[in-house]
Amino acid sequence: MLENIEEIKQAGLTALVEVKDEDALNQWRVTHLGRSSAIMDVFKNMGEVPKEERGAVGRAANQVKQALEAALTEKMAALHEVALQRSLGEEHLDVTLPGRAIPRGRLHPVTQTLREIYRVFADMGFQVYRSREVETDEFNFQLLNFPPHHPAREMQDSFYIKTDEDRGDNPFLLRTHTSPGQIHAMREFSATDPENPPPVRIILPGMCYRYEQVSARYESQFTQVEGLAVGYKITFSDLKGTLSDFARRMFGQDVQARFRASHFPFTEPSAEMDIECFLCGGDGCSVCKGTGWLEILGCGMVHPIVLENGGYDPERYTGFAFGMGPERITMLRHRIEDIRYFWANDLRFLEQF
Ligand code: DAH
Repeated sequence: MLENIEEIKQAGLTALVEVKDEDALNQWRVTHLGRSSAIMDVFKNMGEVPKEERGAVGRAANQVKQALEAALTEKMAALHEVALQRSLGEEHLDVTLPGRAIPRGRLHPVTQTLREIYRVFADMGFQVYRSREVETDEFNFQLLNFPPHHPAREMQDSFYIKTDEDRGDNPFLLRTHTSPGQIHAMREFSATDPENPPPVRIILPGMCYRYEQVSARYESQFTQVEGLAVGYKITFSDLKGTLSDFARRMFGQDVQARFRASHFPFTEPSAEMDIECFLCGGDGCSVCKGTGWLEILGCGMVHPIVLENGGYDPERYTGFAFGMGPERITMLRHRIEDIRYFWANDLRFLEQF
């Protein structure tokens, strides 16, 4: 009988070696420790064991039952450990790895220049006025005193927008410059008090579009910053003072500015402002093409026809306007040689700023 009990234990432990997962372990528990297992039969049939042997058989059976239970517990822990290791291996999770750095964004180089321009003009009392990018021929050209067949229109070859209705000589187009915003702004301001329109001191930034042969110097898409000041007794001296001050605040306190006569349909007289080349200090270099001067912006006194189109009586009001290209200023500052970099969205370029 005692040998029989030892065999029950060996059979149980041997079978346990083959158990590889939890289902098999449950099956094993039923077979070797369940109600109708061999060891339980020993307890059930204790009555048939001769009296003098009962004590020894009982003790042996108890030891076997405890040994099988201990083996079960141990096996369960071992199976858990295997399962844990496997899931770690499958997920390739290394909790000791450092976190991934989140890449830092940065402002586009033209945005950086734009913000500096805003800051300088804000200090001088100019507000930012936003105007539409889709214009009509009337606002983009006619109200700015471009006569119908004026050659300056050809300098600003346009992207026209097809419409179902025939709009005659007033088609929609993408604005070729920010100047039409002058008319929108003056009309909005003068509408508040048509008899005595309030003074205007604004800059108008935004994207412009021209049907250009794209090259290192010309893009079909670029930004401009327009400026407009309208009020009583504004003179050309105010224009020169304001823009010279802008040049000093933007490019350095020692920077010299000069004005050359020029022509724009919407200003009279018109000028272009150059600043002393900040790369060579005026000695002459490749960027200023040996002249010592850099062309920065166009400007002039607002043409009486334009004032009138904006709702301002040219007998009582005068004003000055200017327009500049932030891409060009950014190119000069950083010696960027090709304007196409700006809107090509190549991170290798953008990440340098
Ligand atoms: N609109 C002109 C252009 O796109 C730039 C310009 C020149 C604007 C003189 C002005 C100005 O307001 O006075 O070439």
